[in-house]
Amino acid sequence: MSDNHDESHEAHTGPIKTPKQLLVAVFFSFVVPVFIIIGLVAYVTRHNLPEAGAQSTPAEVAERIHPVAAVEVRDANRELKTGEQVYKAQCSTCHAIGAAGSPKFEDAKAWAPRIAKGYDALLNSALHGKGAMGAQGGGDFDDVEVGRGVVYMANAAGAKFAIPQPAAAAAK
Ligand code: HEC
Repeated sequence: MSDNHDESHEAHTGPIKTPKQLLVAVFFSFVVPVFIIIGLVAYVTRHNLPEAGAQSTPAEVAERIHPVAAVEVRDANRELKTGEQVYKAQCSTCHAIGAAGSPKFEDAKAWAPRIAKGYDALLNSALHGKGAMGAQGGGDFDDVEVGRGVVYMANAAGAKFAIPQPAAAAAK
């Protein structure tokens, strides 16, 4: 009877019988998968890294160190820029990082009280300047383009403003 009991006990212990086997089992079931995951992550993200010994082209360096403001001569009948283009060209300098106390792009909390003032108030601030922000954000855009920049940023932070259209296009 007691022999019988021992046998059934033996049958239920499984393949791990010694501390060494336990260590090996732990190693293969926990440690190895962690390294496999690290390897997969490195494999998937390797395209984002510059190649070993990569050199920037002069164009890439120029792009990185280009001055914040630039003078550009423009055709009065040119296509108006989209809000995103205006934002990237002019507004992101401050608003992408929240520089000088500006409401940061996509920061709904920082934008909410401003959005609550309404589009006209925001446009007025953007056109004429407010606090550390110069008139037109320091740029030289058409008022409609500045408006689009305002809408682009406000909408990214939760507003639902309509994209401003030039008077001529609106009359069509
Ligand atoms: C030199 C940095 C700078 C640039 C460039 C800039 N802003 Fe600003 N912006 C600010 C700062 C600082 C504030 C906060 C002003 C305050 O409330 O005192 C602000 C606030 C605003 C506001 C909220 C105004 C309000 O009444 O609450 C709007 C809208 C805005 N910017 C739009 C723009 C647009 C559109 C552009 C691009 C054409 C732009 N900004 C470029 C710094 C900048």
